[in-house]
Amino acid sequence: MTAKPVDQLTEAEAVEELTKLADEITAHDIRYYQEDQPSVSDADYDALKQRNTAIEQAFPHLVRENSPSLRVGAARSEQFAPVEHGVPMLSLDNAFSDEDAAEFDARVKRFLRLDSDPVAYTAEPKIDGLSASLRYENGLLVRGATRGDGRVGEDVTENLRTLSEIPKRLKGAGWPEVIEVRGEVYLGHAEFAALNAAAEAAGQRTYANPRNAAAGSLRQIDPKITAQRPLRFFAYAWGLLSGPFAETQWEALQKLKAWGFQTTPQSQRVEGLEGLLAAYREAEAVRPHLGFDIDGVVYKVDRLDWQSRLGFVSRAPRWGIARKFPAQQARTVLEAIDIQVGRTGALTPVARLTPVTVGGVVVTNATLHNADEIARLDVRIGDTVILQRAGDVIPQIVSVIEAERPAEAHPYDFPHECPCPLTTPVVRETTATGAETVVRRCSGEFACPFQKLAHLRHFVSRKAFDIEGLGEKQLTAFSERGWLTAPADIFCLHEHRDELLTTERYGETSVSNLLANIETRRTIALDRFIYGLGIRHIGETTATVMARGYGTAEAFLAAMDKVADRDPEAIDELDAMDQIGSAVIEAAAAYFAEDHNRKLVQDLREQLTILDAEKPKTDTAVAGKTVVFTGALEKMTRDEAKAQAERLGAKVSGSVSKKTDIVVAGPGAGSKLKTAAELGIQVLTEDEWLALVAG
Ligand code: IVH
Repeated sequence: MTAKPVDQLTEAEAVEELTKLADEITAHDIRYYQEDQPSVSDADYDALKQRNTAIEQAFPHLVRENSPSLRVGAARSEQFAPVEHGVPMLSLDNAFSDEDAAEFDARVKRFLRLDSDPVAYTAEPKIDGLSASLRYENGLLVRGATRGDGRVGEDVTENLRTLSEIPKRLKGAGWPEVIEVRGEVYLGHAEFAALNAAAEAAGQRTYANPRNAAAGSLRQIDPKITAQRPLRFFAYAWGLLSGPFAETQWEALQKLKAWGFQTTPQSQRVEGLEGLLAAYREAEAVRPHLGFDIDGVVYKVDRLDWQSRLGFVSRAPRWGIARKFPAQQARTVLEAIDIQVGRTGALTPVARLTPVTVGGVVVTNATLHNADEIARLDVRIGDTVILQRAGDVIPQIVSVIEAERPAEAHPYDFPHECPCPLTTPVVRETTATGAETVVRRCSGEFACPFQKLAHLRHFVSRKAFDIEGLGEKQLTAFSERGWLTAPADIFCLHEHRDELLTTERYGETSVSNLLANIETRRTIALDRFIYGLGIRHIGETTATVMARGYGTAEAFLAAMDKVADRDPEAIDELDAMDQIGSAVIEAAAAYFAEDHNRKLVQDLREQLTILDAEKPKTDTAVAGKTVVFTGALEKMTRDEAKAQAERLGAKVSGSVSKKTDIVVAGPGAGSKLKTAAELGIQVLTEDEWLALVAG
């Protein structure tokens, strides 16, 4: 779409476009800030915002009250308690070129009435994560919040406490009595890749990029899940202060470091425009080697007294600007579309591309997500496409150059059959309410060799049965020989020992090692057994919850049979388990309703010794109670308190609701204590709690 130049717009056209832009930007904001699932690239989003601003500048009287240029982010989601920031969390204006940077420097000097002396700035890599505000009182972390709409954020204290890079107690001395430390929660590339690989193995939704993964991981209702995600934190700013603590931004960064925070590596103090430009080039050069995403460089006037004089205009400071990297894009040709079949049978189209370098990395494949995405792009084999590395990691096709389309290219016909030899029909998945989703699945289940292989891969994966020496290559080879059709066959591989030994590349040692590894896994924990079955929606955490809930394999399997028969009591029992909802119940019921799955599980069980899980206690004073810890604990860490409570059969939650039975409040407790009082919930001090659990 080529938009009309702003100076040629009539007023009526401007009104119409501003309305459209406001709607479009709001929709993207909601997907980005509330759902952690953006549907456009940052570059496209920035382009919409720039267009909006340009029209508003040409027609200032048309600026809407709800203009996207006047707000930061989107409304909070309802899942978390609101927290009003002591000082609003604002955003930065963007600069996209050396000229924009020069304009920023000139504006600063003009405003401060400085003449020729170069201004000192800090230049800090702009980390691409989500911002958080941490309130410390007397050096103790009392509250942590997301940005939200900038004025009111979400209370994610318990989740933020699980980050090892967030000090619960500030180190050293000299911190103001009250300080809101601000910074970015993010995930490194390696951690992101591991998280997505695990999600994929569990048949769960993967994240598009590290930033969404960080946002999704932080905004979990259950801090236990956040704790399992290797989130990191860089501090770079502050909000409310009970008193000043530094004279320059540079000094402030050093203090934050001394108090126990990480600050962005490669941050530097520079002089004048030349320094700003050089810092940007350096950031471009180090970007591929950092191991985490940055999307530009933040320039800040170093002297804090000057920052105060410069102040803010609407939602952004005059003393700082974000110099953004251009999107990393390249052109290439779509040579083919391959269909991959996952463990759950989902068909994922993968674009095979003529290799091309994007931002220093050679790209040959890109995900096309699903049939709807192919239709939306109208991408056809032979098309020249624009490729973009979104959030630095996953390459995406952003558009098609239609003018270069070969005459013979025809719209892509998404397969109606699974590409496996069984050619089972592909069905479009529907949700519980009957709505169609974008996912198409092979209906062949375990009979589909692709799904079977994917299932076996999952079964032997690290968090399931963890069988070393059984990689994709071996699984494929053994399946082709007919030795492996179901997981139970793995435990009969020793019957093929002689054949294995005569097989090319298998020496005595590797065969012995493999068979020994398999033998050690014949005894398995119940949670690994459940997870290894690879039932949809039953990932590692859910499997652990179920294992603890049922305690033994007998109880688990008996309950699953009843769930499959829609026994209301069995369904209620499962539903009552922490974090288990209708998706898991439906998936478990569907799985155990299939005869071939029951047989698969039965065969497997005959090969195994499945260890009982530790059942939570039921005979303690707090068994079955839901407990919330808030404020600072003095006798134990939060993790210890939680682990102890759980051992004694209590459920620990991060937020106070009608379901809460006990709130344990330490010094600095805030909104949760208030909510507890409003709801009439029992509130205990740490000592009272300890006395209670000691019996
Ligand atoms: S300072 C008044 N410094 O970029 C705003 N922000 O577009 C003060 N960010 O909301 C923000 N690295 O999420 C600042 N070194 C850095 C940053 C940084 C990343 C993010 C932050 C902020 C956004 C502004």
